[in-house]
Amino acid sequence: MKSKIKELISAEKIQQRVAELGREIGAAYQGREITVICVLKGSFIFCADLVRHIPNPVKCEFISCSSYGNAKTSSGEVKLALDLSTPLDGKDIVIVEDIVDPGLTLKYIRELFAVRHPKSIACCALLQKPEALKVDVKVEFTGFKIGNEFVVGYGLDYAQNYRELPYIGVLGADQV
Ligand code: IMP
Ligand code: MG
Repeated sequence: MKSKIKELISAEKIQQRVAELGREIGAAYQGREITVICVLKGSFIFCADLVRHIPNPVKCEFISCSSYGNAKTSSGEVKLALDLSTPLDGKDIVIVEDIVDPGLTLKYIRELFAVRHPKSIACCALLQKPEALKVDVKVEFTGFKIGNEFVVGYGLDYAQNYRELPYIGVLGADQV
């Protein structure tokens, strides 16, 4: 039996905002093909929903990155576990992140891809913790700005748990 997680953003609100983000991205690229890069594992649900709301032709690519391990605070060290299998030359790429916390992962990914000569790079993050933004990194499309609490659900985990929740919740002290 799963313990109840305090809801922060409901499934309905997430679905509404994801649909809007898809339209915002579509408008920004005016019908051009977009290469969407899903940052595993945390973005898998968000990215799957988002691409279905982007009106443009979309190609989906996946990378795997982690800076957290099984902890609730960032280790500060970003690891690339899985790289792209295709070149980025001349492509409009949108990096899809679950959450930008201190922003280390996104900064690392942007720098990694910038040298591969894409036509453009943008990031779409479902969540952003503005107070935690230690690194100067651009997020062109943001779903929700939240406080500094540790959240789970809709792809986000704590020690690999809770990714399957349809809403975003905050873990209680007895749940960690
Ligand atoms: P950053 O690189 O420090 O900005 O951290 C980004 C990554 O850390 C995200 O892609 C998440 O996997 C993870 N992360 C940061 N904050 C949270 C949180 O509140 N809940 C779950 N994972 C988080
Ligand atoms: Mg994680």
